[in-house]
Amino acid sequence: MTDLFTNPHRYGDLDAWRREAVELHARGPIHRIDQPGYQPFWAVIGHDAVLDIERRPDEFTNAPIPILGSDAQLSLRAAGGAEIRTLIHMDEPDHGKYRKLTNDWFKPASIRRLTDRLDELSRQAVDKLEALGGEADFYKDIALAYPLQVILSILGLPEADYPRMIKLTQEMFGAEDPDLQRDVMSPEQTVEVVTDFYRYFTELTADRQAHPTDDLATLIANGTIDDAPMPDLEKMGYYVIIATAGHDTTAAAMAGGLRALAEHPDQLRVLQDDPDLLSNAVDEMIRWTAPVRHFMRTAQLDTEVAGVEIAKGDWLYLSYLAGNLDPAVFDDPLRFDVTRHNADRHIAFGYGIHFCLGAQLARVELRSLFGQLVPRLQSLELAGEPQTAKTTFVGGHKTVPIRYSLTAS
Ligand code: HEM
Repeated sequence: MTDLFTNPHRYGDLDAWRREAVELHARGPIHRIDQPGYQPFWAVIGHDAVLDIERRPDEFTNAPIPILGSDAQLSLRAAGGAEIRTLIHMDEPDHGKYRKLTNDWFKPASIRRLTDRLDELSRQAVDKLEALGGEADFYKDIALAYPLQVILSILGLPEADYPRMIKLTQEMFGAEDPDLQRDVMSPEQTVEVVTDFYRYFTELTADRQAHPTDDLATLIANGTIDDAPMPDLEKMGYYVIIATAGHDTTAAAMAGGLRALAEHPDQLRVLQDDPDLLSNAVDEMIRWTAPVRHFMRTAQLDTEVAGVEIAKGDWLYLSYLAGNLDPAVFDDPLRFDVTRHNADRHIAFGYGIHFCLGAQLARVELRSLFGQLVPRLQSLELAGEPQTAKTTFVGGHKTVPIRYSLTAS
């Protein structure tokens, strides 16, 4: 019985993980996983099977538990009281009502307004690489900060709040990887962190109600549900998901994308020779990295997926990373190929009603960064073994040491 989906350490060796996932595809699209310390669940790895489940949100709900946890983790969470409820925790009809508030803001026409800001951040990133003089850690020096600066911009928050937002991402979503964990907080410290954010976002709400602007914080602060103001706790959930969902994910795609270029110099050259491939290359990076490893669904009735009987109450692990390696859809899935003709069929952003709200934003961030960096890269290689985060949820790299030279701007 494979521990591929439950053991965070397995995600620490991504090449081995990918190889084993491809072998598993040969044995079917759905596998029963019964690991000690975990409720048994179905690992759904087939590309079509994941889409089939996502197309049936009434039959496969995100509630009650949308993220995998061991029995011990789940009882700890339950003892901690009500979790903040975000879009990810909601099903219809609530989900649609909350999603509608910001859906248009994330459409391409809206995202285009950010082009100048993204290009400025990309220029700063390349300048920083230049200043570092040929050796850097692409994850820590570039990828980690970039998406968080974008989030501050879209929420309309000042750069001075950057350290506070880092804290939010790291402490509200305790990491499984020991290197990414802070010291274990006492219950009093946890209350302190939560109270601090509650105060911060309450002040933000009051400010945007008094002085509305065109930023996302204004939409959330003044949002109504069923013609009544959105409840405070749900407002917190909204701020929290916007502040966190686009951070580690996009950083992981950037760092993993650059690593792939460093490890496949032929692909870097192909992209340099044909800049029109940029969008496709970005999709291939996202297929390849699939930073959100999974979300869970719970079956609401006895049914069937890909010919396998699923019972009411069964738990299903949608493996976006494995789905992106399905040989039935992607030829030679273990090849990183910026010319792949169907790279955009990846399911790294999910599908259906929960399809990633920030998908377009994430794509344009990667296009802006790689669009400026790739033409300037005269040479690029790894300067050491990259370290991958050991986590079953959102993950990527902890370090991507590189050696490089850049052409003059
Ligand atoms: C490469 C970067 C990213 C990846 C791989 C990613 C992946 C995902 C995935 C797999 C889902 C769940 C989809 C499903 O259940 O079908 C999701 C949902 C979501 N993402 Fe992203 N995401 C990324 C970037 C972003 C960004 C930049 C933002 C916004 C700032 C964002 C905001 C959200 C939100 C709000 C949801 C919940 C949507 C809902 O439940 O309706 N994501 N994302």
